[in-house]
Amino acid sequence: MGVSTEVSFEEGASIPLADYRRLRSEVGWGGPSLEDAELAAALERTWNVVARRSGEVVGFGRLLDDGALYASIWDMLVSPLLQRRGIGNEILTRLIAHAATRSLTVLVATPKGRPLYERHGFVAGDPRASALLRRRT
Ligand SMILES: CC(C)(COP(=O)(O)OP(=O)(O)OC[C@H]1O[C@@H](n2cnc3c(N)ncnc32)[C@H](O)[C@@H]1OP(=O)(O)O)[C@@H](O)C(=O)NCCC(=O)NCCS
Repeated sequence: MGVSTEVSFEEGASIPLADYRRLRSEVGWGGPSLEDAELAAALERTWNVVARRSGEVVGFGRLLDDGALYASIWDMLVSPLLQRRGIGNEILTRLIAHAATRSLTVLVATPKGRPLYERHGFVAGDPRASALLRRRT
């Protein structure tokens, strides 16, 4: 399937709250247990790429970006029925392009996302640094 013929991609887009919650649930992610206003504010603080098919949100990814030095990628989600068609790849390509001049772009990968990220040059560490994460318990 040619992704571009059926699915459109909007850059710097808002992610509607209901779609964010729906896609998280579709891929089996829990939560987040935040009030709507709090969650909506968080979604507005990132530069988002939103994929739509016939108007419906079918995927998105979020870039948390300081605009100069560092950026990170969060919440890459594609609706399960439309996975493995290149939609995630297209979203990721656009997020990376937006942060192309940052000296470091980082992300936290699920096992499912990891091969895609590795194809785009993300590595678990290099001789100069490695990523560590701290999860709220
Ligand atoms: C990770 C995720 C966003 C990828 O989205 P996607 O749209 O399926 O991504 P793509 O289609 O671009 O690539 C996924 C795989 O499909 C393959 N693929 C792409 N186009 C294809 C096509 N036309 N036919 C068959 N396979 C194809 C890719 O080679 C890739 O293979 P891989 O398993 O070796 O990586 C999606 O699987 C998802 O939402 N997962 C659940 C949530 C999650 O874990 N997100 C990652 C957070 S870090």
